[in-house]
Amino acid sequence: MPTSPIAEGHNSVGHHSREAFARARGVFPDGTTRVTIERDPIPRYMGRGEGAYLIDLDGRRFLDLNGNFTVLIHGHGFPPVVEAVIRQLQSGTCFANPTLAEIDLAELICERVPGVETIRFVNTGTEAVMFAVKAARAFTGRSAIAKIEGAYHGTYDWVEVSQASGPANWGAPEAPAAVPSYRGMPDSVLSEVITLRFNDAVLAEQLIEANASRLAAIVIDPMPGRAGLIPPTPEFVAAVQQVARKHGILIIGDEVLNFRQGYEGASARYGLKPDLFTFGKIIGGGLPIGAIAGRRDVMRVFDASEGKPGVPQGGTFSANPLSMVAGFASMQALDHAAFAHLESLGDRLRSQLDAAVARHGAPFSISGAASLFRIHPKAVLPRETREAVLMGPEAHAMLELTRTFAEHGIIIPNGAGACLSTPMTTADTDLVSTVFEHFLATRGDLIERLPR
Ligand SMILES: Cc1ncc(COP(=O)(O)O)c(C=O)c1O
Repeated sequence: MPTSPIAEGHNSVGHHSREAFARARGVFPDGTTRVTIERDPIPRYMGRGEGAYLIDLDGRRFLDLNGNFTVLIHGHGFPPVVEAVIRQLQSGTCFANPTLAEIDLAELICERVPGVETIRFVNTGTEAVMFAVKAARAFTGRSAIAKIEGAYHGTYDWVEVSQASGPANWGAPEAPAAVPSYRGMPDSVLSEVITLRFNDAVLAEQLIEANASRLAAIVIDPMPGRAGLIPPTPEFVAAVQQVARKHGILIIGDEVLNFRQGYEGASARYGLKPDLFTFGKIIGGGLPIGAIAGRRDVMRVFDASEGKPGVPQGGTFSANPLSMVAGFASMQALDHAAFAHLESLGDRLRSQLDAAVARHGAPFSISGAASLFRIHPKAVLPRETREAVLMGPEAHAMLELTRTFAEHGIIIPNGAGACLSTPMTTADTDLVSTVFEHFLATRGDLIERLPR
């Protein structure tokens, strides 16, 4: 048995969560107010967070490997963020005027990220991606985009296409379909999206060449989490870049999630040179944020100094000072030493998980980089979305694995990237690998049903 601070049976949600959910079902369509909330079948309601830990409404304590979908790189209640936000609350939460706080955060990001010359702030990653697509359209005069099958970029219609396609509708390997994300999605949207397959350089080049004259942008998350959290191959990056440059198609590097991979972000790490970047999550220090950034000449589409800009971008709460000061405090603390700590913690955990898989000869594989990791109930490490999608027994094994983690006091996302935070130590990551090993040792009933 793993040494766990928490007794077995911890997984079932307590009565306070049950009561909350009963109330919530009266006011929300399915009892929740965002589709991404995990429920099994009742969601766990949180009371508070403390550093790397969460405490639910029933007083149960969990190591948080979700971090509000990778936002909380310093965990909960990070003192520099708390102090900055309290100071700002006392002097005003929002103004119809600019503040110094937005310049501080903008300068920090422009100084750090190669290729980021100017920036605009919004409130979510979805908005950031939306405005980046609009900027690419205004700059190129073209309307279509290319994106990667299975990649999540928020909920702007064009980038929603094929974000959750599956074997029943994703089309032939050489002709990935543009799959609507909701019934009634306009055909015009589908006709303006070219679906690429991650890490298939030859197919990407063919599809982009064939549609070059109508493509404004290629939207790429350098390591799409929902598509497997797999690194891009150098061939894929080179092929996409070469064909985009040849045809004047802009590359939008969506770093909303993967900016946490290093001091300069994920594109720099993998040799991708976007014309436009989108940021979100960690740059807000736990408050809502998004940003569009990149080449000065492209970003000029937002310039309203001489009248109507190419793309009008406003937003009542854009660059609100609370998000700006929280983001600045969080990002300032993310120095080279903080990234090195996360990198070594992540490397150690991934190799411990790999070693557990090898010891048990289990059909599991581990992907990820820096502070991100994902456990796949797959014998062979997936190379792209189609290989990463969980089929019947795999989905069941993954659900049972998340339950086992919860029983032992660890919250881990089911079928998405898990993340570490700066307050975590090797004692925390050792607990993760010990619980994983316990699962492999005790759940032969599930494991024997997995394909080899
Ligand atoms: C890569 C990527 N882009 C965009 C988004 C959308 O960000 P938000 O949820 O802040 O709208 C997400 C959210 O998870 C994301 O992971």
